[in-house]
Amino acid sequence: MPQKPLSRESAAEMMAALAECEGNTLAAARMLGIAPGTAQNRIRTAETVYGMARPQKPAPAPRPPPVEADPREIRDATFWRRRFVAEERARLDAELAAEQLAGVRSIPVTIPEWVASEREGRIGKSVIGCLISDIHMGEVISAGEINGINEFNPDIARERLSRYFDAACEVGSRWASDTDCEGVLLALAGDLISGDLHTELTITNALTAHEQVSAAVGCIVAGIGRLVEQFGRVHVIGVPGNHGRTTMKPTAKLYARLSYDMLVVSMVAERFSGDDRVTFQADANTDQITPIFGRLVLTTHGDKIGTKGGSGFAGPNLPIVRGAKKIAEQQAAVDRLPHLIQFGHYHTSTNPGAILGNGSVPGYSEYGHNIRAVVEPPQQWLYLLHSKWWMRERAPIQLEAPRTPALPKVRVPARMSAA
Ligand SMILES: [Fe+2]
Repeated sequence: MPQKPLSRESAAEMMAALAECEGNTLAAARMLGIAPGTAQNRIRTAETVYGMARPQKPAPAPRPPPVEADPREIRDATFWRRRFVAEERARLDAELAAEQLAGVRSIPVTIPEWVASEREGRIGKSVIGCLISDIHMGEVISAGEINGINEFNPDIARERLSRYFDAACEVGSRWASDTDCEGVLLALAGDLISGDLHTELTITNALTAHEQVSAAVGCIVAGIGRLVEQFGRVHVIGVPGNHGRTTMKPTAKLYARLSYDMLVVSMVAERFSGDDRVTFQADANTDQITPIFGRLVLTTHGDKIGTKGGSGFAGPNLPIVRGAKKIAEQQAAVDRLPHLIQFGHYHTSTNPGAILGNGSVPGYSEYGHNIRAVVEPPQQWLYLLHSKWWMRERAPIQLEAPRTPALPKVRVPARMSAA
């Protein structure tokens, strides 16, 4: 069927739309509600049949004259470019150092047979669990800044750790007395030193990061010595914390290998090299999974559990439970459902379900005072895992003997106190 020729009015309408759209065929077609191909046909007909002139595209706007660069801005840009290059170089140096350090001090991960054993035995087997985290060796807490509630420095840290290992030997032996005790599972769950990344800690710390490492190693080696004498075998688990970081920003890669905490663990491991009673489980992982009596224990620091800090009056309890649930779901996806998840970081002793959230060695600090945190004494978990009953015993070991307060608790009128 022959097509109806385009009328002069339609051709004029097409050219008017084209003029309004500054020569843009697509926009003109859209304006008239017709297909772009139809618009092009109409324009061609308007030009060839009716001799209408195609509207000219407007000349492009003249370019603005180049802005005179401010010499100060040029200087700033140069400064930041150089700074970026220097930071990048420092990061690469740190990676190289980590590679070399790991090469020299790599710890072969061995989970000894007695730890992984599923045998129950005649009277039931047990393992004493020591959860040590957040020692913050080197940190100083000034009693004068928090109304005398607490005090902390490296000497106090040594005393508190010594008290913990005393308790582990004494209380642990009593707990295990009706069992066949296999040995001790000692988790070094990060923040073993105060570190020097936070400005206020750098100013107030009593020791440099290197001295902190040395002091922490001394205390832990002494403690393991006592545990191994008492219980015969110690399996040490090491994971990195956030205070032991050596990079300003937390890294996703190389996190464990760039950590002072792992340096502490590797130095402790060197001190016990050749002693098969003490074994180590520490590598580039931020979590460690240990099989005990056919169940799994997951150890991590707690800063990487996928939840942030405390919320309102619930404190850190909600993020702790949420974080542990996330860990359990993640591990269940690869067929490893942990029967105990233990970590520190929140400086709050808590035990909801299969979770052990650890307290801290320093205890109440200026930071806690600043946010009106609940006052918790310095304490660390001690527990007993039983082949039949699983976590049969647990206690947060108080690292300071309770003291009688110097001030009366409540002041009342004389007649009331007489009555
Ligand atoms: Fe900590």
